[in-house]
Amino acid sequence: MRPSAPPRTYRVKSFGCQMNVYDGDRMAELLAEKGITPAPEGEEADLVVLNTCHIREKAAEKVYSDIGRLAKAGEARGRKPLIAVAGCVAQAEGEEIMARAPAVSMVVGPQAYHRLPAMIDRAVAGERATDTDMPPIAKFDALPARRTSPPAAFLTVQEGCDKFCTYCVVPYTRGAEISRPYRDLVAEAHKLVEAGAREITLLGQNVSAWSGEDARGHTVGLAGLIRDLAEIDGLARIRYTTSHPADMDDALIAAHGEIDKLMPFLHLPVQAGSDRVLKAMNRSHTAESYLKLLDRFRAARPDLALSGDFIVGFPGETDAEFEETLQLVGAVGYAQAFSFKYSPRPGTPAATMDGQVPREVMDERLQRLQAALNRDQLAFNHASVGRTCEVLVERKGKHPGQWLGKSPWLQSVWFEGEAAIGDLVQAELVEAGPNSLAGRLRTPATTAT
Ligand code: 5AD
Ligand code: SF4
Repeated sequence: MRPSAPPRTYRVKSFGCQMNVYDGDRMAELLAEKGITPAPEGEEADLVVLNTCHIREKAAEKVYSDIGRLAKAGEARGRKPLIAVAGCVAQAEGEEIMARAPAVSMVVGPQAYHRLPAMIDRAVAGERATDTDMPPIAKFDALPARRTSPPAAFLTVQEGCDKFCTYCVVPYTRGAEISRPYRDLVAEAHKLVEAGAREITLLGQNVSAWSGEDARGHTVGLAGLIRDLAEIDGLARIRYTTSHPADMDDALIAAHGEIDKLMPFLHLPVQAGSDRVLKAMNRSHTAESYLKLLDRFRAARPDLALSGDFIVGFPGETDAEFEETLQLVGAVGYAQAFSFKYSPRPGTPAATMDGQVPREVMDERLQRLQAALNRDQLAFNHASVGRTCEVLVERKGKHPGQWLGKSPWLQSVWFEGEAAIGDLVQAELVEAGPNSLAGRLRTPATTAT
């Protein structure tokens, strides 16, 4: 590659999960430290980071088409952008990307992005570099301090997964489970709150497996961390995601009944309702043990809203087994959920299993599942009408004087009136749609501290 001028503007494009959004924000902070500024809306950037997701099909293909589009736009502009591919596709297919896409000058895996600034210098000098090392998460120590934060912020507390569900690439792309140290998390949470966060969502591929040593030297789990973070003045709300049913301990269940700042919401993927399919997926729960677990959470926190993930068409899934998924959905009554067609991920055991389900069958199952989930989501929203609850104002709405925020149950609520981003307002929920509710402001806002 020929040397190029140092980039002045950047754009980070994150795909996939919230962890990627968090990583994307941290990469943006690294670039800002280097004096590179965000490209204005509608303008091509000098440096583009494609922060990719590998969890489902087509992600890699999308990356190649994005690269092609960027290279073309660069030609038209007379200045080719420096392109970095980051995230899980980078981790899984780094070498292939370098071979197939000459426009890419940097490939950086999810555990190596703190070295992005040095890679940019090399790229400017005309070198192409791949860094997909997976050391324990040293990167967090190398990242700059948080200066600004949206009212609802993310904090990665744990990375990686040891569960090896047979369909999933995460254990390969993100590596083994690692917990960030307690004191680093408490310090980062304080910084986030000072920078404007009123809500923090603790992130991890398997967040409930987090463990650490607290200030008194005691080993604590996620519940202990949440309990201590709840002591931070100015922090009003705590959430966590994503959990595996196998790691939900008594302390975490109890925390939902005891810690006011812990929001009444639980994202607990089940994936399927058939025990045979669950076993083939290497999930360690059955439909019944999952439902029993939810009962215990609901006993601790009766107004808990539930969310889940589902895969339809796992290899060998029969019509009758799919019906069991629908039955489980009916039994739970999810407030929201994510559902996907099974997609074979190269290198995972399920990709080579017999009985791959035809696309049309998957399409039909997904439609039926989503109809059931949408029905339940709307029912949950309807049942909230008449409640008055706290709404965290996250952004302006489309019309002047209109605001958008989140209820404790993670519903989007819009309302009109006097407010500002970061306020916690009391709103009466007056009208429900499938994806949002209309609220009526009840009290003047409590201004952000
Ligand atoms: N195919 C379809 N969905 C998948 N997920 C993970 N791997 C696959 C796959 N190979 C879904 C699971 C997981 C969510 C993040 O993505 O439902 O919980
Ligand atoms: Fe993937 Fe299973 Fe780990 Fe979730 S628990 S990240 S689905 S292997």
